[in-house]
Amino acid sequence: MSQPVKNVVRKAVIPAAGLGTRFLPATKAVPKEMLPIVDVPTIQHIILEAVQSGIETIVLVTARGKESILDHFDQHSDLEKKLLSEGKTELAEKLRTVSQMVEIVAVRQGAPRGLGHAVLCAKRMIGDEPFMVLLGDDLVDSEIPCSKQLIEVYNKYQKSVVALMPVPDSDVPKFGIVSGDKLDDRNIEITAMVEKPKLTEAPSNLAIVGRYLLTPKIFDYLEKTDPGKGGEIQLTDAMNMLRKEQGFIGHQFQGLRYDAGDTLGFVKANVAYALKRPELREPLLEYLKTLVK
Ligand code: G1P
Repeated sequence: MSQPVKNVVRKAVIPAAGLGTRFLPATKAVPKEMLPIVDVPTIQHIILEAVQSGIETIVLVTARGKESILDHFDQHSDLEKKLLSEGKTELAEKLRTVSQMVEIVAVRQGAPRGLGHAVLCAKRMIGDEPFMVLLGDDLVDSEIPCSKQLIEVYNKYQKSVVALMPVPDSDVPKFGIVSGDKLDDRNIEITAMVEKPKLTEAPSNLAIVGRYLLTPKIFDYLEKTDPGKGGEIQLTDAMNMLRKEQGFIGHQFQGLRYDAGDTLGFVKANVAYALKRPELREPLLEYLKTLVK
């Protein structure tokens, strides 16, 4: 391996510059990252996973019109004071927790040039250390946070890691697809990576889910990556080049993944996360039963 890799993963990139066209009209004036799963914005669930995995700094890649995401994680003293004066201590505490979750720095992606380009925009903020990338559309509900699972794999193999799950044939063209050689029950050494292949050209049905742990060498490859699928600079293409130099592990994570970027996936996530809340579970189940009768 040509580059020494460090042990500590402290930073995470969250790309949040997309237009959210799949959720129009909801996303006409509200960033899709702010759409709630129950009463918590999607991006707060994602950041919570990062924090619970030991991440200390979030590099948010944003764009015009996304200011409310930063406002959400900022302190709102007036509102806190008002809630406290009304005796709503618990709610005030909830707000304070959000603003103290983690350090967030923002960089802008001036033009929508693809996921690879979004990650490249974070290069200076990341510097020379391994880092996580978490995609806001992928919500993972698991006992051990999905990012933490990847960090444990990195600590063992000292190579970049990506989260994987098997998908049905019909979904293969929607994902980055990999194949590889088995290392143990959940890990493979990746031997091929293709962004959104046709079913006939796919090396397997193991799909990349939006959790990546990358060595900083990825930036060199992102700088060299030409536009690929959809005319965009694809992270998968740069990862495939990094794989050839440093190796790359695929990890079949434990947990349930929701595609919050898809209308049905978003509704499913809302129902599932609501059912996990003790105060909502019983009344919601009762109500759902009346609907299906
Ligand atoms: C992105 C990646 C793709 C990955 C997917 C996971 O695609 O390019 O490789 O499988 O996220 O959600 P997107 O869904 O943003 O088009």
